[in-house]
Amino acid sequence: MARSGFIRAASILFPLLILVNGQTTSNSADGLNGSAQPTALATVGTVSIDGTHTAFRPIFTIPASADEGATLLPNIEDPQAVNAQDVCPGYKASQVKDDERGLTAVLTLAGAACNAYGTDIEVLNLKVEYQAANRLAISISPAFIDSSNYSHYIVPEDLVPRPTLESSYTDIDLDFNWDNEPTFWFSVTRHSTGDVLFTTENQKLVFENQFVEFVSSLPDDYNLYGLGERIHSLRLNHNLTATIYAADAGDPIDVYGSHPFYLDTRYFETDGHGKQKLVKNSPLPRGNSGGSKYESYSHGVYLRNMHGQEVRLQPDSVTWRTIGGSIDLFFFDGPSQREVTKQYQLAAVGLPALQSYWGFGYHQCRWGYRNWTELRQVVDTFKAFDIPLETIWTDIDYMDQYRDFTVDPVTFPVSEAQAFLEQLHADGQHYIPIVDSAIYIPNPTNSSDAYATYTRGNESGAFLLNPDGSQYIGAVWPGYTVFPDWLSKYSIPWWVNEMVTWHKDIPFDGIWIDMSEVSSFCVGSCGTGNITLNPVHPPFSLPGEVGNIIYDYPEGFNITNATDAASALAASNVNHPPYVINHVQGDLTVHAVSPNATHHNGVQEYDVHNLWGHQILNATYQALLSVFPGKRPFIIGRSTFAGSGKWSGHWGGDNTSKWYYMYFSIPQALSFSLFGIPMFGVDTCGFNGNSDYELCSRWMQLSAFFPFYRNHNTLSANSQEPYIWESVARASRTAMNIRYSLLPYIYTLFYQAHTTGSTVMRALAWEFPNEPLLAGVDTQFMLGPSLLITPVLEPGADTVNGIFPGIIDGEVWYDWYTQEKVQAQAGVNTTINAPLGHIPVFIRSGSVLPQQEPGYTTAESRKNPWGLLVALSEDGDATGSLYVDDGESLEPTDTLTVAFTVMNGKLKADVNGNYKDTNSLGNVTIMGVDGCDGNVKLNGEKIDDSKVDCDEGTGVLKLTGLNDVTKSGAWIASWTLSWA
Ligand SMILES: *[C@@H]1O[C@H](CO)[C@@H](O)[C@H](O)[C@H]1NC(C)=O
Ligand SMILES: *[C@@H]1O[C@H](CO)[C@@H](O)[C@H](O)[C@H]1NC(C)=O
Ligand SMILES: *[C@@H]1O[C@H](CO)[C@@H](O)[C@H](O)[C@H]1NC(C)=O
Repeated sequence: MARSGFIRAASILFPLLILVNGQTTSNSADGLNGSAQPTALATVGTVSIDGTHTAFRPIFTIPASADEGATLLPNIEDPQAVNAQDVCPGYKASQVKDDERGLTAVLTLAGAACNAYGTDIEVLNLKVEYQAANRLAISISPAFIDSSNYSHYIVPEDLVPRPTLESSYTDIDLDFNWDNEPTFWFSVTRHSTGDVLFTTENQKLVFENQFVEFVSSLPDDYNLYGLGERIHSLRLNHNLTATIYAADAGDPIDVYGSHPFYLDTRYFETDGHGKQKLVKNSPLPRGNSGGSKYESYSHGVYLRNMHGQEVRLQPDSVTWRTIGGSIDLFFFDGPSQREVTKQYQLAAVGLPALQSYWGFGYHQCRWGYRNWTELRQVVDTFKAFDIPLETIWTDIDYMDQYRDFTVDPVTFPVSEAQAFLEQLHADGQHYIPIVDSAIYIPNPTNSSDAYATYTRGNESGAFLLNPDGSQYIGAVWPGYTVFPDWLSKYSIPWWVNEMVTWHKDIPFDGIWIDMSEVSSFCVGSCGTGNITLNPVHPPFSLPGEVGNIIYDYPEGFNITNATDAASALAASNVNHPPYVINHVQGDLTVHAVSPNATHHNGVQEYDVHNLWGHQILNATYQALLSVFPGKRPFIIGRSTFAGSGKWSGHWGGDNTSKWYYMYFSIPQALSFSLFGIPMFGVDTCGFNGNSDYELCSRWMQLSAFFPFYRNHNTLSANSQEPYIWESVARASRTAMNIRYSLLPYIYTLFYQAHTTGSTVMRALAWEFPNEPLLAGVDTQFMLGPSLLITPVLEPGADTVNGIFPGIIDGEVWYDWYTQEKVQAQAGVNTTINAPLGHIPVFIRSGSVLPQQEPGYTTAESRKNPWGLLVALSEDGDATGSLYVDDGESLEPTDTLTVAFTVMNGKLKADVNGNYKDTNSLGNVTIMGVDGCDGNVKLNGEKIDDSKVDCDEGTGVLKLTGLNDVTKSGAWIASWTLSWA
């Protein structure tokens, strides 16, 4: 959860509804007079969050003005702003040394310094390396680095590894070219096609101490993806400034993470003779036969720079601007998305962590669960409604006055925790608490306020400093706080120790890291001289505090709410005011630790801001390795950087219960596939605001096909657990049944991602790269190579339009529910029946999907019989794979892989490995069989007719009750099943 959530007006694809904000004096005119707005410096507020023992105690409220920065006009909006391209001189290259591995040169300022946004650097070093068969590196950095000049901070390799030289570079399909006219410029071309991928021709290189700019032209109607984190359509639009500066903001444009990477996909027409022609995307004339007429080439571009930056997309160019650091560019040659993503992860940022099997179960959370008893009730109610629940989460409610590694002694006492968790674990379920990034600094005049976590960290030098060496003190939930300094060698050992110690009291199963941008509710070291006021109230009112207004509902609520009464458990709260701060973060010091906060090694936060959230994930990963030796850490974090996937998953942050936010979850997830963070999901049913049964029903079904599946809600909003509404309960059971039956498929996809860098959620364009029409599709997606999900994303609908990709090349699709072949035409939208409670899911021909009968928990599911779902291609072929291990070991010693191949009426399972799984094979369903004579054999032994059901009409062959012929286990040895 968090906290500053505000929605700024923006028009992306949908009109964004602005949540009414009730927090500053300027809003007193909208009828909120009389509310307990903490706006005056000495206001004594009363926290009235039920159940937290800080309640009903007057405490000092930090004035809202403490989080106000200077009013700054963003450069891109300033008509008076200097355009560095107009005034700066550029550079000239000299001392060029060229060999087969690349080139080095010296770049010297080509005229009088312009000092547009800093001080021009006179002399730069250029280094170009053909690093590997698929990777070109271009680095430009100051020739003389003055260590006292922080703005020349170059990313250290121990913080963010730099892709290294490999021996095989000769096959690279990229060429580097350069010229000095009119000033130094360079280009990267794809050798095999002659296509210019990147060129700074006719643009100047600008390199100042606090401003670096380079500009490349781009082809017409380009397809760029990535440049996160933002809430945006998958394909980036051509008039967009992608700001990369980690921020705690419910802002729909630029949010928590920093991923300076893009994928560029270009489509070429291939039916002509000779030169290929670059094509525009859509709409395209499409034939129904003769195969695709297009092919695509993709490449990736990664800027290894952690400074605040803007990537400005315009119809014909990309302008990259950073406020420091160097140009450290990497080009990955693809030539498909699949290869670009693998190349990026393998060489640059690392492969994603393999998740524990239980992490794929369903997670329930909310801000506002008040005590262990209420948690127990939630867990029991899931069971009573037969809705699978794997993991129950708590937001900050459980803490003692919001201090990390504590529990509220009244509402969440340790004694009850242990009984609660013991039962939970005995039932095969799990518990995850939130852990915030800031550490409470106690009131030194009140000995009963002592906080051991702070004391230990302070003694070891684990916290950020002010430039004068005193402690940097900001403010977050508990009051005035300090912040771990992840560049101090003492911080990780301290963090590990805190978690290990706390786990002895509260045996949690994983950790949720929040507020890690790193967020602070005031500008600068606002607590300096003030800590005797601790604890304090944040400078804004919380959801549920007196005087706010009722939460908004989803679009279409009035229509739909009338037709479904709350079923079992009525929502207990309807009169809860929204809390959204109208905070415009024009100033880098606002709502975050200030750029001048100083690390123990002298580095300023300015240089490493975007890395803070990445480093706390690393620290937490180390901590969980100590808590659970040899087991895979389960971590979900808010702020991420390139490479965070090797430690953690990510949730989409503070979204809102609106239909367009449900849509945005798809492009956000697909972008995180590109960033190498496949463990992704959003707050299902929406965080801010009230949900309703229609939105929640659709969303519970959609998220069932996301890797990370969690419902989460804000404080004081109406409850939205799936059992709250009968229709949502039904819809959730349906979708969860599919998800849990597919756990072996999903787990196998993750294993492949972890070992090869492949993706889990996939854009249609990536699986069908020869269809330009798919370049922007993000209302449908693939789960792995074999499942197509086409969700309803608007209220009041009972059909949905979707494309069936690949038909032009002979692809066939099968309906998950009817197992019949889909009748659809290539390249056009098909209207699909999708009443509430039904999510359209289609299986791609040529697939073998491993399944297991769903249990209530993942542990139960793992004890159930296996199944196989086979979707034959037009030629009667199919392939698939299965990976099995114990589901939790960091480096499993025993593993099992099964390769499935179908040809000529025979399904072969090739079993390898020594992990012992003794579950039998229950069912095999084969779709698309071309008649069957009833003579089905397993390893040559005829299968009893009673187990065989062949429907010649639909072409579905169903084998059931195979358990007695596979008693010792489905994967004890390889086998062949034949039916023709
Ligand atoms: C580009 O975006 C800016 C900022 O959103 C907007 O003011 C401008 O009108 C847009 N330009 C075009 C050509 O759409
Ligand atoms: C727990 O919270 C609930 C509200 O959900 C309240 O009714 C109940 O009295 C609390 N129980 C305890 C033991 O604190
Ligand atoms: C304390 O906090 C207030 C409000 O944020 C601020 O104006 C003041 O400068 C801080 N320092 C002292 C010493 O009061």
